[in-house]
Amino acid sequence: MPAFAAGAANEQAPAAGGSGPVSLPPERVPRLPRAPPWECLPRDHIGRGVDHFCLTGGQAVNLCIPKMRDTWNGERHPALDASRVVAHHRVTPPSAHEAAMTRTVYLNGDYIPETEAKVSIFDRGFVMGDAIYEVTAVLDGKLIDFPGHMARLKRSLGEFSIRNPLDDDAYLAAHRKLLELNGITDGMVYLQISRGNGGDRDFVFPPEDTPPTVVMFTWNKPGMADNPLTQTGIRVITLPDIRWKRRDIKSVMLAYPSMAKMQAKAAGRDDAWLVEDGFVTEGTSNNAYIVANGTIVTRALSHDILHGITRAAVLRFADEAQMKVEERNFTVAEAQAADEAFITSSSMFVMPVVQIDDAEIGTGKPGPVAARLREIYLEESRKSAI
Ligand SMILES: Cc1ncc(COP(=O)(O)O)c(C=O)c1O
Repeated sequence: MPAFAAGAANEQAPAAGGSGPVSLPPERVPRLPRAPPWECLPRDHIGRGVDHFCLTGGQAVNLCIPKMRDTWNGERHPALDASRVVAHHRVTPPSAHEAAMTRTVYLNGDYIPETEAKVSIFDRGFVMGDAIYEVTAVLDGKLIDFPGHMARLKRSLGEFSIRNPLDDDAYLAAHRKLLELNGITDGMVYLQISRGNGGDRDFVFPPEDTPPTVVMFTWNKPGMADNPLTQTGIRVITLPDIRWKRRDIKSVMLAYPSMAKMQAKAAGRDDAWLVEDGFVTEGTSNNAYIVANGTIVTRALSHDILHGITRAAVLRFADEAQMKVEERNFTVAEAQAADEAFITSSSMFVMPVVQIDDAEIGTGKPGPVAARLREIYLEESRKSAI
């Protein structure tokens, strides 16, 4: 993990060009806009031994140099003259965005800075949405329900006829290595596999020996299990489910769920529940449930919904706790009249829903069944995490 030096402390670092610290007269300090993307460069851009570098210029003026590329207005920026790169300095702690920009990611077997991870414009995932993915939660540095995610990954690959490029042990090792390299205790790992680089845009699949593209990256979400939304619950709108008919495959074709989410945000809500033929299918990125007359009701598995890994675990735990579960369709009206509603997903675990369109659900507050299921889910999942 890059060590960001907070405060105004300057940590002297070896100059990459071999020369000692240099102070620039004020008039020679490059004027850089304050707005992003100004950022310190990762070590690989200039030298080794420190995490990032800044100029020490004139009267204690310390400037971060432009992130990303060693160009400035198309020309080489003076700040990138290695002989002037003298100090390791950070005035403010990194924003979440900046911190994310320093991630080490996985690309086809390599662990590299995210700014250096490049995939062809002809990659099938990019031009055709021809890729599948998984997102695995991490709590206490361990992967939640990893075997479940592996099983679904292989099913999605099979349905898309994409060759599985790695075995389970290799996926596990890569997940763990990324957690270690990025210092993740709580967060998530994203894994995407596309059919690879077809060499051109073509509806015809590329030759079978085309290597799939494998990408993995992490999100750092400290305290993810203590999401304050759990106390208030979320509010959803309903929208027609106009996705394709194979929602059981976890593919990257997410334009509509993303648009639906934006529509919910525009309406001041947290998410959307999707509705087909009068029945709720699922949320934009989660499975949907109601609790009515003491029974947990959720749509049965089919091609209509994603077979949530969290769903499978929660239903199993509910069963073990002798809670009554019915897997069947339910309408929006039934949901609005229910005692409770909630969603499940790998990132939200179990999250109460307190409003559907204009109707408050039950008391309008998170209910006991969702709370209990969340508690059991977190407890049991932590136990079996690897
Ligand atoms: C459409 C959809 N349904 C359900 C889920 C929940 O699945 P899981 O519990 O495996 O995260 C997701 C997760 O991304 C999803 O995108």
